[in-house]
Amino acid sequence: MVLFKKSAALQKWLGKQRKKGKIIGFVPTMGALHDGHLSLIEASKKHNSITVSSIFVNPTQFNDPADFEKYPITLEKDIQLLEQADCDVLFLPSVSEIYPEWATANEQYDLGYLETILEGKYRPGHFQGVCKVVKRLLEKVQPGNLYLGQKDYQQCMVITKLTELMGWKNTMKVNICPTLREPDGLAMSSRNMRLDKEEREKAPAIYRALTYIKSNLQKGDLQPVKVKALQMLVDQGFKPDYIEIADAATLQLSNEWDGRQKLVTVAAAFLNEVRLIDNLLLND
Ligand code: PAJ
Repeated sequence: MVLFKKSAALQKWLGKQRKKGKIIGFVPTMGALHDGHLSLIEASKKHNSITVSSIFVNPTQFNDPADFEKYPITLEKDIQLLEQADCDVLFLPSVSEIYPEWATANEQYDLGYLETILEGKYRPGHFQGVCKVVKRLLEKVQPGNLYLGQKDYQQCMVITKLTELMGWKNTMKVNICPTLREPDGLAMSSRNMRLDKEEREKAPAIYRALTYIKSNLQKGDLQPVKVKALQMLVDQGFKPDYIEIADAATLQLSNEWDGRQKLVTVAAAFLNEVRLIDNLLLND
């Protein structure tokens, strides 16, 4: 695996590969890698001649400074895992490499409704920060294929919208890969490392609550099933931000189901200090 810390060197190297006709697949991450991340590398390896991954804990997407400070960093192990996964390139930029214009950057992405609901509502500024970093990474890597995890459902929609806003829709395909889970259903996440033993035992309740919604979905009023699922989280000591049902394509929140509309259920909840998110497609 080739490691680049500087954008200029990365771009020069990738430029040469592109000239040779190589197709580039890209997996952006914030490190603390787990099998979920590695499944994206694997998907990219299958369909591209070169797989690039990045590790950058992006300060602009943390609306809570304590979350940024406590974000797990396991760089040595990450590099080992990427080597084992046969990743071709790791881009490991510093903050000044990504944000040289830090003090003056005043960009705004028009994400519309997506920014006012769910993660957008509970983490103000978060998706603007995601767009800031992903735009910069994509400009540098210029992949033919971008790989994202369904685990961050709304983020997938935001980044897809970003590629449209930037006019990259026809040159860059956004590939959304399934959520990898622990045997007890807990969605793999870097933040799981912050759970203590007791919290880790409680954490799969979030998956059980979503599964409850999936198993008990009925035409008509969706309120009763949402109320019950919320209670399941509260009973396990979670402090939920939300547990919602929404249109799978637009994320417009739904209170009623006609029996045909494709739906997704999404949840975000705190277990003490750690905020977990998860989602399930209900009728895919
Ligand atoms: P991070 O949380 O490190 O996730 C990197 C990628 O891995 C994202 O596309 C995420 O959806 C995917 N992922 C996380 N957990 C997964 C799981 N259990 N199964 C499958 N895929 C999973 O998301 C980010 O970083 C950042 O916001 C980023 C896009 C890198 C921008 O900073």
